[in-house]
Amino acid sequence: MERKPLIAGNWKMHKTLADAREFAGAFAAGPDEWPGVDVVVCPPFTALAALQEAFEGSAVMLGAQDMFYEKQGAYTGEISGSMLQDLSCRFVIVGHSERREFIREMDEFIGLKVHAALIQGLTPILCVGENLKQREQGKALGFVRGQVEKALVDLSSAEMGGVVIAYEPIWAIGTGKTATSEEAERMCQAIRMTVAGMAGGVAQEMRILYGGSVNKENIAELMREPNIDGALVGGASLKAAEFRGIIEQAR
Ligand code: PGA
Repeated sequence: MERKPLIAGNWKMHKTLADAREFAGAFAAGPDEWPGVDVVVCPPFTALAALQEAFEGSAVMLGAQDMFYEKQGAYTGEISGSMLQDLSCRFVIVGHSERREFIREMDEFIGLKVHAALIQGLTPILCVGENLKQREQGKALGFVRGQVEKALVDLSSAEMGGVVIAYEPIWAIGTGKTATSEEAERMCQAIRMTVAGMAGGVAQEMRILYGGSVNKENIAELMREPNIDGALVGGASLKAAEFRGIIEQAR
């Protein structure tokens, strides 16, 4: 099963409008810039409109870092999938560990968002991953499996095929400590088997990414693993040259 590699940049809470425009200027790409790789940039909401214009007709697709599960209504501060569609978003990150930690997002809530994203025509990038304590206690595999099951439980098999999962061990995020490619592969394979248990053959179509201190030096080794189909990149996606380097290596 050929799965198209996907490299997604997660800017988190970085970059003013001016910074975002500067990035876009340095990152300008033609429509066929990276054949064989899907490239996504997920800026803060405030920069989406500017990047929609800047990346129009280029190979760079847009994603958001979160969304709410209702279509519209009295939900102060929230953003819906259709609003993201308006801004030409194709992807949306859901359940990032920083939101689970700081905003206290729970699995069931994240599951609602995954479902809503699919219904509203966006590809959810569902983030899962254990913390250091869970890893040291040998509980990582069971914990991550549980996260996957709880977030996907209400989906049909066909819907599951449209989800991207990003395995991001919390201890590797922003720390410079990457999981070894063997550790990352073991978990990504376990995630695929979990999905296979829920949805059968569709699991072979699902793209599974690794995230956590990915850079242009370690991406190639990670992507040589059979179950790693790309990366969710934080810090290294903030600089155009570094992010471009990761994409080149991923090819
Ligand atoms: P990092 O972040 O690449 O800076 O470790 C990854 C992420 O949190 O998505």
